Amino acid sequence: MAGSENIVWHKTTVTRADREARSGHRGAVVWFTGLSGSGKSTLANRVEAELFKKGIRTYLLDGDNIRSGLNHDLGFTDADRKENIRRISEVAALFVDSNAVVLTAFISPFTSERRAAREKVSEDEFFEIYVKCPLDVCEARDPKGLYRKARDGEIEAFTGISSPYEEPPAPELVVDTSEETLDQSTARVIALLEKNKIIGA
Ligand SMILES: Nc1ncnc2c1ncn2[C@@H]1O[C@H](COP(=O)(O)OP(=O)(O)O)[C@@H](O)[C@H]1O
Ligand SMILES: [Mg+2]
Repeated sequence: MAGSENIVWHKTTVTRADREARSGHRGAVVWFTGLSGSGKSTLANRVEAELFKKGIRTYLLDGDNIRSGLNHDLGFTDADRKENIRRISEVAALFVDSNAVVLTAFISPFTSERRAAREKVSEDEFFEIYVKCPLDVCEARDPKGLYRKARDGEIEAFTGISSPYEEPPAPELVVDTSEETLDQSTARVIALLEKNKIIGA
């Protein structure tokens, strides 16, 4: 890769084990994926609030917040969507190393990018949550008015309308927000982290 030949990873004195011993929990990525309006931000935000109440070190990376800063130079072509997710994956991995439970709420429509994100951390610290919701329900919710704009041709390459969404073949958890309540989905995500010993029960 360009420019990487003279780079040597510097080992830090403070290790992950040190951080885990102090916080009493492990770091992990909780990766929410799904259509726009499926409820990723709503659910990730609620899960973070519950974890925070339990004293867990958390951080939420959310689509528009990252696109307005770190990734403000990227658009919505397939190449830019890939680069968007690549950078987020790297940032998420750094947060895991810092011992945080990092929650990400991005449409992340491509299986290959989600797989690449998973490969940035250990196999047992990546949790893909498919926030499933039928397109017509997402479109009826239309929390940001984006579906209407997409149908009116004002937004190019809108996921689910004019750009593909690849359903996760093997997510750690599927929540269907058209059938379960926010409280139910939240409890299921927390239970998953407890079961996998990221956090104590
Ligand atoms: N069970 C549910 N879980 C999550 N969101 C829900 C649920 N039922 C209705 N909603 C609503 O659906 C919308 C989801 O929007 P948002 O979280 O911004 O989606 P996304 O981040 O996936 O684009 C919100 O207006 C939320 O209040
Ligand atoms: Mg969102």
